[in-house]
Amino acid sequence: MKRKVYDGGDFRRTRNIEELRLAAKRWLPNFVFEYVDSGAEDELTLRANRHAFDAWRLVPSALVDTTVRNSSVTLFGKPAAAPLVIAPTGYNGMQRRDADILLARAAAQAGVPFTLSTVSNRTLEDVVADGGARTWLQLYMLRDRAVTQNLLERARDTGCDTLVLTVDAVHYGNREWDRRSYREAMALNWRNKLDVALHPRWIRNVLIPDGTPSFVNIARYLPEGERRAANGAIFIARQMDTALDWEAVRWLRDQWRGNLVIKGILNVDDAIASAQIGAEGIVVTNHGGRQLDTTVASLDVLPDIAEACRDRLTILIDSGFRPGTDIVKALCLGAHGVMIGRATAYGVAAGGFEGAAHALTLLTSEIDRTLGQLGCPSVAGLSRRYLTRHPA
Ligand SMILES: Cc1cc2nc3c(=O)[nH]c(=O)nc-3n(C[C@H](O)[C@H](O)[C@H](O)COP(=O)(O)O)c2cc1C
Repeated sequence: MKRKVYDGGDFRRTRNIEELRLAAKRWLPNFVFEYVDSGAEDELTLRANRHAFDAWRLVPSALVDTTVRNSSVTLFGKPAAAPLVIAPTGYNGMQRRDADILLARAAAQAGVPFTLSTVSNRTLEDVVADGGARTWLQLYMLRDRAVTQNLLERARDTGCDTLVLTVDAVHYGNREWDRRSYREAMALNWRNKLDVALHPRWIRNVLIPDGTPSFVNIARYLPEGERRAANGAIFIARQMDTALDWEAVRWLRDQWRGNLVIKGILNVDDAIASAQIGAEGIVVTNHGGRQLDTTVASLDVLPDIAEACRDRLTILIDSGFRPGTDIVKALCLGAHGVMIGRATAYGVAAGGFEGAAHALTLLTSEIDRTLGQLGCPSVAGLSRRYLTRHPA
């Protein structure tokens, strides 16, 4: 029997993240949807990220009192109401006006941290002031270290306590679906221009107020003329520090006293090196399948990394997480928390603040229901005993 899915209309009627994705697809012009949704090249990693969850099956315990359930965790010494963090996603302003702030507000309401991308469309200062969430800053290291130093100063001044250094994107991923929308660099082809015209509500919300969103968070470091999104994106890609190495991380560690999280770790050696260099955490990720295609799914490397480093590092994971059962599986395999990228991005596209909040409500209620049905009343009690490899 064919499963019935969301067939358009109010995003509030979506019952899971996959349906919310369809609601986002309706709201967004094709070129923005492809930017958010697509992966690199043949999208093998994008698919592998989803399939990895099928390889694990939950094994419930019977007859456990689960009347009271607790999904809260502690991340870097502070409580979070759920084992979730909103992942950094750049260029959010293309989905909804002020999406960076709307996502932060949704995170605040759900009691989880929000990570602001370096390439955001609102400044760190605005997001901290108006978003109200525990805000972490994601850092792309550009060649000019003075930019990094200034960003760190701003992070300190705004009270941001956690820096997420992304190390898997110094060479931009080859997202062919995204590139297909353009005639040449940042110039849409005719099919996509026409498609934009068919999305008047999006035009009114995103384009009419201020034109194409620009990278205001780092505008002060960009030369005049490179600040609009079209030029800025190309300029930033050229400024990425391709020499980024452990020496650079050591330098950063010396500059930054707050929590340092290295995002883009996929093997045990790098996880151990992260601990040795003094990072407080890592994100096990393949960037949501948007960077090197055919890389391993992050869930597949999690058990070994957790075994080697769980007592020394806070281990976060992302890439491909959709229903709450995915999140519970990762926690059983040793993650301390899960970063959510597209799920909340679909939400904010489909319904602004309410859409992002809806995405988080879906996820938190799915986690809570899974705990109840699994016979494990708290996230803290999750372990390998609730999982089996399939086929065993
Ligand atoms: C539209 C989009 C933009 C992204 N921008 C950034 C970014 O600016 N910095 C970064 O570290 N990761 C970025 N990522 C990767 C996410 O932080 C995260 O690793 C990934 O989305 C997780 O996979 P998921 O989307 O399947 O949850 C981006 C991802 C998406 C979908």
